[in-house]
Amino acid sequence: MVRSLQSHTDDRPLKQSRELTERASKVIPGATQTASKGPTQFVQGVSPTHIQRAQGSHVWDADGSEYIDCVMALGPVLLGHNYPAVTEAVTEQLTDGTMYTMEHPLHVEVAELLTEVIPCAEMVRFAKNGNDVTTLAAKVARAHTDRNVIATQGYHGWTDVWMGDHPNLNRGVPEAVGKHTERFEYNDIESLERIFDENPGDVAAIVTTPVNLDAPEDDFLEQLREIADREGAVLVFDEILTGFRFSLGGAQQYFGVEPDLACFAKGMANGYPISALVGRSDVMSTISDSDFVYSMTYAGEALSLAATKAAIEVQQRENVHEHIFEQGSKLVEGYDELASEYGLEGVTGVNGFSPRFKMWFRDEDGNADRLAKSLFMQEAHKRGVLFTDGHLPSYSHSDEDVEIMLSVYRDCMEILADAVKEDAVEDYLEGEPVGATLRERTGEDRS
Ligand SMILES: Cc1ncc(COP(=O)(O)O)c(C=O)c1O
Repeated sequence: MVRSLQSHTDDRPLKQSRELTERASKVIPGATQTASKGPTQFVQGVSPTHIQRAQGSHVWDADGSEYIDCVMALGPVLLGHNYPAVTEAVTEQLTDGTMYTMEHPLHVEVAELLTEVIPCAEMVRFAKNGNDVTTLAAKVARAHTDRNVIATQGYHGWTDVWMGDHPNLNRGVPEAVGKHTERFEYNDIESLERIFDENPGDVAAIVTTPVNLDAPEDDFLEQLREIADREGAVLVFDEILTGFRFSLGGAQQYFGVEPDLACFAKGMANGYPISALVGRSDVMSTISDSDFVYSMTYAGEALSLAATKAAIEVQQRENVHEHIFEQGSKLVEGYDELASEYGLEGVTGVNGFSPRFKMWFRDEDGNADRLAKSLFMQEAHKRGVLFTDGHLPSYSHSDEDVEIMLSVYRDCMEILADAVKEDAVEDYLEGEPVGATLRERTGEDRS
């Protein structure tokens, strides 16, 4: 039973969270493995820091408190934690081993499966992280076109090609690398055209997230397709967040525009570590050219492939995406209604699509308001909803979960409304406010 239904007094123990964070800070730089999961992303002193176990749409922290999960490990857990069909497939594969000296039949089976379900996929290579395949996509595009410049928008990972051009985030990247990455704005074709004008005959690829928190406008994706064709550049969709989430075939299927290459990771194997670069055969074949190197020891690890196959089969059999859209839209609409009921329309609201949306908090000048976000998060965590602002609903989020989340958000709105009225949001905070997210630091997903 979720805490908010038992009582609204917060008596959660946080002893393990505190001890683990203290130990982590001595042996793990930043006390985290993932920027969005570190202590600074939560209200320090109020939020839990370590999750011990998870089932369906719920998680239990290291002190045993239960929460409804809003972001499902930042997106990978599409069906639900420990989803039976996936766990069974992985358990069965485990008894046959995990890594082999040669290829395993699953390498072929899952590659074939991806070519069946993803519109642009004619060939497939596997990897482990989103970064691996976005970086591979840039390298393949450069090799295929014999050009240098990557025109890009959106977050694609931490590697040199994606961070080299960020003045405050490019420490450790040789200056020369950043010179070949050029940014354009989503929904701003002019900003992309400028890159082609300034780099005639040298733009290898347009690498973009097909959709961000804002919807594509004025046939933006179709225009990208046309420009890539006109210029002989490779169109790459980074579907790491949208793949398997907007539809089984990703956002390219949802919006009906096919890129030349596409990157998949989160959502692919319901939480197991795997990613894939897929795309047109002539472009993908570059990977097997004698002067091109791409190879990873763990790329073909069998548990994650078994998980991928099982997760896709669930999506083929059941109305996974319909459910995710339904639960997401109830939350989006419910949140906006609450914000207006409490007179907080200018203070907080929702951006995005039902399968991926994000709550924004703004101050009087329209800037991101981390204090308001921290207060909302604090009150949600105290009531058993693991709110972070981003929401990635899963197939396991039940109607009851949605009801509880909205009833908790009602409480949070009421408290936030009081605090705003009293001009005392900071005074309501019981811990350290949250810091900037990685996407805020890179300029993506502005609130
Ligand atoms: C759109 C997008 N691309 C790339 C990445 C990087 O993926 P990973 O963290 O698995 O390397 C992410 C991660 O959040 C992402 O959302």
